[in-house]
Amino acid sequence: MSPSRPGGPDRRTRVVLGVGAGIAAYKACELLRLFTESGFSVRVVPTADALRFVGQPTWEALSGTKVTTDVWQDVPEVPHVRLGQEADLLVVAPATADLLAKAAHGLAGDLLTGTLLTARCPVVFAPAMHTEMWEHPATRANVATLRDRGCVVVDPAVGRLTGADTGPGRLPDPAEIYEVCRRVLAGRGPDLAGRHVVVSAGGTREALDPVRFLGNRSSGLQGYALARTAAARGARVTLVAANVALPDPAGVTVVRVGSALELRSAVLAAAADADAVVMAAAVADFRPADRLATKIKKTDGDPEPIYLVKNPDILAEISQERQIPGQVIVGFAAETDDVLANGRAKLERKGCDLLVVNRVGDGIAFGTPDNAATILAAGGDPVEVPRGPKDDLADAVWDRVVPRLASIP
Ligand code: CTP
Repeated sequence: MSPSRPGGPDRRTRVVLGVGAGIAAYKACELLRLFTESGFSVRVVPTADALRFVGQPTWEALSGTKVTTDVWQDVPEVPHVRLGQEADLLVVAPATADLLAKAAHGLAGDLLTGTLLTARCPVVFAPAMHTEMWEHPATRANVATLRDRGCVVVDPAVGRLTGADTGPGRLPDPAEIYEVCRRVLAGRGPDLAGRHVVVSAGGTREALDPVRFLGNRSSGLQGYALARTAAARGARVTLVAANVALPDPAGVTVVRVGSALELRSAVLAAAADADAVVMAAAVADFRPADRLATKIKKTDGDPEPIYLVKNPDILAEISQERQIPGQVIVGFAAETDDVLANGRAKLERKGCDLLVVNRVGDGIAFGTPDNAATILAAGGDPVEVPRGPKDDLADAVWDRVVPRLASIP
């Protein structure tokens, strides 16, 4: 997304950053930096109480513009109307329960809420509050109202809150909020809103003894890109992560697993009400027949052979016994040779709707930020996705999942 808009190269994209009165206001400083360093013009509009957490000089210094909280300054300019009309994007971070309620009900008692009412641009809310407030029926209803109106409300992250408590309610990572905003500005709407998608990521580990395992090279980057992009497109996302050392994507429920059997249980449970399941995890086909209770020692004598037993094929199972009629199932396949022929055969064998096939080796795929692939569809033409960021491949996958969801109410 270029920060200059049609209408002239001098016209920088204008972002209004609303800041609510939550302790997470300090993280909005980083969000502001991400916007300004990318060339956006940002006007910060905190609420009066937000200034108790981060003061006016900080916002003015970081944004390079004057900061006010009410409509009684620069009155001839009618700031709440001008800001709303001129904004290309309005993002509120942190969005408190109080701000969500005011926005849902159209209250306009200060500059931020007034601007929310006059803005006709896309609006993104990044909530942060205690779990009880987020889960309260009043907040749920307000969030539903705002989403119905087309606003993007990012689900809060799960983790440590202000006090000793943990749960859903943390402000998502500023980089994640920035990414959602960038996509909204690029015209990618929330086309997965109201959908639940399940993504598996990473690589399973099959224990030999308490310290050793049979594993694979999967980093989880592609699965995380799928989860992140689905959340940015409005989906409720469950990410089943097998041995991944990456930060949780914003607004995504992460279920951590180790082995293929654990991954199977977690995927089946999450798939019970899912509209789509994407199996990006590298699942071990075999596991040691016995997991020794104590560490194998070299002093035990000559090594014993390791006997393997087959793991269940989760993709084939969920494709052939769909829990919801019309549920869209996507598989991944990394192949080293005869890529398309092997991919076609695998698509048929597994019974999934789409299979994303990529050639591995030559530095592509494992642990790298880029990927190139072909998306095969049951009864459709293959789509080549050229080498590029894993988020682009993820978007290309969702672009093909979305039309297939039409048959699910
Ligand atoms: N998969 C799965 N369960 C397994 C193995 C694989 O669900 N036990 C899924 C993967 O998540 C992936 C797809 O199946 O989406 C293809 O994985 P791959 O390892 O290429 O398939 P295999 O059937 O194991 O084929 P191969 O013999 O080529 O390894």
